[in-house]
Amino acid sequence: MGSKENSIIADLSLAPEGHLKIDWASSHMPVLNRIREQFEQDKPFEGLKVSISLHLEAKTAYLAKVVQAGGAEVTITGSNPLSTQDDVCAALVEDGITVYAKYNPTAAEFKALNMKALENNPDLIIDDGGDLVTLLHTESKEHAVNLRGGAEETTTGIIRLRALEKQGELQFPMIAVNDAFCKYLFDNRYGTGQSVFDGINRTTNLVVAGKTVVVVGYGWCGKGVAMRAKGMGANVIVTEIDAIKAVEAYMDGFAVMPMLEAAKVGDMFVTVTGNRDVIRGEHYEVMKDGAILSNAGHFDVEVNKVELEAMSVSKRTVRRNIEEYKMKDGRKFYLLAEGRLVNLAAGDGHPAEIMDMTFALQAMSLKYVNEQYNTIGKQVVNVPYELDEQVARYKLESLGFGIDKLSAEQAAYLDSWAEGE
Ligand code: NAD
Ligand code: ADE
Repeated sequence: MGSKENSIIADLSLAPEGHLKIDWASSHMPVLNRIREQFEQDKPFEGLKVSISLHLEAKTAYLAKVVQAGGAEVTITGSNPLSTQDDVCAALVEDGITVYAKYNPTAAEFKALNMKALENNPDLIIDDGGDLVTLLHTESKEHAVNLRGGAEETTTGIIRLRALEKQGELQFPMIAVNDAFCKYLFDNRYGTGQSVFDGINRTTNLVVAGKTVVVVGYGWCGKGVAMRAKGMGANVIVTEIDAIKAVEAYMDGFAVMPMLEAAKVGDMFVTVTGNRDVIRGEHYEVMKDGAILSNAGHFDVEVNKVELEAMSVSKRTVRRNIEEYKMKDGRKFYLLAEGRLVNLAAGDGHPAEIMDMTFALQAMSLKYVNEQYNTIGKQVVNVPYELDEQVARYKLESLGFGIDKLSAEQAAYLDSWAEGE
């Protein structure tokens, strides 16, 4: 059966819009385009099945097409119920990729779609947040028979992988793409920084300047969100549980305080910790009327929705992707995109030029794990430095500028302990 008969998507007739989106994205992804050219020649995945779980928007679709250009039979599913774009799915099906994804499925449908993507016993996977890996260690265990290994996209997925590895349960090698320099320095920081406000701004149509924006978590993503909030004229408060990150935020010019204090003064909240319940009942008790709550962390557990619901007397949708919760005392809070990653559930994700580097790393890592899976074994390993650096070099070349080279004398000086002058 072909991709059209196999796929489960919302509506194939949406394909033309999807093709336009993918064309626009791919024309801004020069690094991935170079990898596509190499893959078209070398066919590193000839005869292999690759299953992908990623936020299914245009840049991701282009990655799927690049892997397909490398000879793979590609199956793709969504990584979040609200980040799938139906027109993009339709375009991929027309291009011969099997898609199991639609926008806003129920939790049970979402899981069933993820499971469908594993039924063909893939040789390789790309995961975002660890859902495919979890299925391959539990309910879809039998579909890991051919699995050589895979690559993981995000911080939360790597935390889950390392926990599996620590328990001695990990069944195949996984490459920690998130931990490559060309990933977290650009994607987590600049990508999240920009796309979070793209999501918030297009959803709320409100001003950021002058507002007090509370950024919860000052990791790679939090730094980007705080930097962009400041750039738009917000008064930025950072909350942290890590003393070093808290000092860093302070030195970067932000106010730092516990969440219970920040909750009293914040107009807008962005959680980006990868942790659960970072905004919860005790914080709703003291929040100001009109507070806007959003999350950019991988799962929708950062803003505690159960407590928010329990403490409110009514809930209604006041605008697409905005739920109003009214408290007993009349205060109203606004939760964006159901507390799911606001940049993807209420936006298009990171800019194309950023995902260009991330997805170049994904494509190269997939090739690497396919070549090295026997030597790597059942471990989580980093992207080799040479691949990381290759992505940076391709990026520089695409930007049209060069950098200096070490002279032989400089290299010797940097290698030496004896030369001090
Ligand atoms: P990170 O580990 O660099 O940073 C997380 C920070 O949160 C740490 O500094 C940690 O100390 C802090 N933290 C943990 N619990 C906290 C709490 N209770 N209160 C305040 N701070 C707390 O991780 P990261 O790379 O910044 O990723 C954060 C989350 O965002 C992860 O879930 C990741 O998967 C996700 N992510 C989302 C996108 C996106 O497009 N929305 C992109 C990349 C990563
Ligand atoms: N677009 C596709 N995948 C993404 C991700 N993991 N983060 C941000 N934007 C994306």
